[in-house]
Amino acid sequence: MPVPTLVWEGGRPGHVRLIDQTRLPTEYVVLDVRTVDEMFDCIRRLVVRGAPAIGVAAGFGVLLGAQRLDERDRDDTLGRVKEIAAHLAKSRPTAVNLFWALDRMVARATRDHSANKPIVAGLFEEAHAIFEADKAICRKIGAYGAELLRDSMTVLTHCNAGGLATVDYGTALAPIYVAHDQGKKIAVFADETRPLLQGSRLTAWELQQSGIDVTLITDSMAARVMFEGRIDAVFVGADRIARNGDVANKIGTYGVAVLARQHGIPFYVCAPLSTFDAAIATGDQIPIEERGSEEVACGFGKRTAPEGVKIYNPAFDVTPARLVTGIVTEVGVIERPNPARVEAALRRGHVL
Ligand code: MRU
Repeated sequence: MPVPTLVWEGGRPGHVRLIDQTRLPTEYVVLDVRTVDEMFDCIRRLVVRGAPAIGVAAGFGVLLGAQRLDERDRDDTLGRVKEIAAHLAKSRPTAVNLFWALDRMVARATRDHSANKPIVAGLFEEAHAIFEADKAICRKIGAYGAELLRDSMTVLTHCNAGGLATVDYGTALAPIYVAHDQGKKIAVFADETRPLLQGSRLTAWELQQSGIDVTLITDSMAARVMFEGRIDAVFVGADRIARNGDVANKIGTYGVAVLARQHGIPFYVCAPLSTFDAAIATGDQIPIEERGSEEVACGFGKRTAPEGVKIYNPAFDVTPARLVTGIVTEVGVIERPNPARVEAALRRGHVL
């Protein structure tokens, strides 16, 4: 069973219940989130994180605010929904699923407003549709990705693109879960993923919970394990993919892709079509989140750098499409991504 990353509790009104991912793996804490500001804070602080989960959280975040509105003044309701969405859009900049979900919520409210239909009821439906679709998409990515995995393979992954980053099986970990369910023996090397340690705190935790053979390494060990011939494939997630197939993902992913190419290891990205940004031609246009210096200098409360030293902390990097063997989506694998192949997949998924 995948972990219940976030769910809507109750009907209307209701609230969001989510796992506080900042507390894993030592504490399993479930939070009740009842306001837009609380949801904003959860996204910003990575209490809920991972591109698809951020999208679902944003949809529910709009609903949290909308369900408090008095719908008698419908123009005011629509205006307030737009304001809530604009506010949530400032929580994190890189994962495009955030903006995709917010746009969907605003579009739904705008449609229902024009059609004289109940606005909040429509938003309830839309947020739940985003949630349900994420589950189905994880399963499809898992099924396509599992075809790339043979019995006894070892996969290296970076960051966490598992159940905790979605509301079901995950993206990069979905093929591993599906292959495992199919009876294939798959082992995983998980990069620790400095500075916030999503690999050790989250990926190692969830794979261990699922009984999958997982070995934790620090990021700087990836080259060595590849050199030793221990890795058959790399599977990672994505936060935003440009029209040419360039992939933004957790800082360090680009280095892993370079290493994979050097060692002749296939490098797969697993992501839903909602992670593609059709408005962006190449990866250089993807906004990269920069986070606070204390994450590097004083991670988890222990100072490991001198006071006052200059620190640069980009949270994501961009892997050029030429290093990507394939992008596993819910409409199949985009082999050696390029603009034409990405466009064909987006058309197959009715995104374009
Ligand atoms: O900063 P985070 O933890 O939100 O970064 C997460 C990642 O980079 C994931 O690999 C990505 O969002 C894909 S999750 C399915």
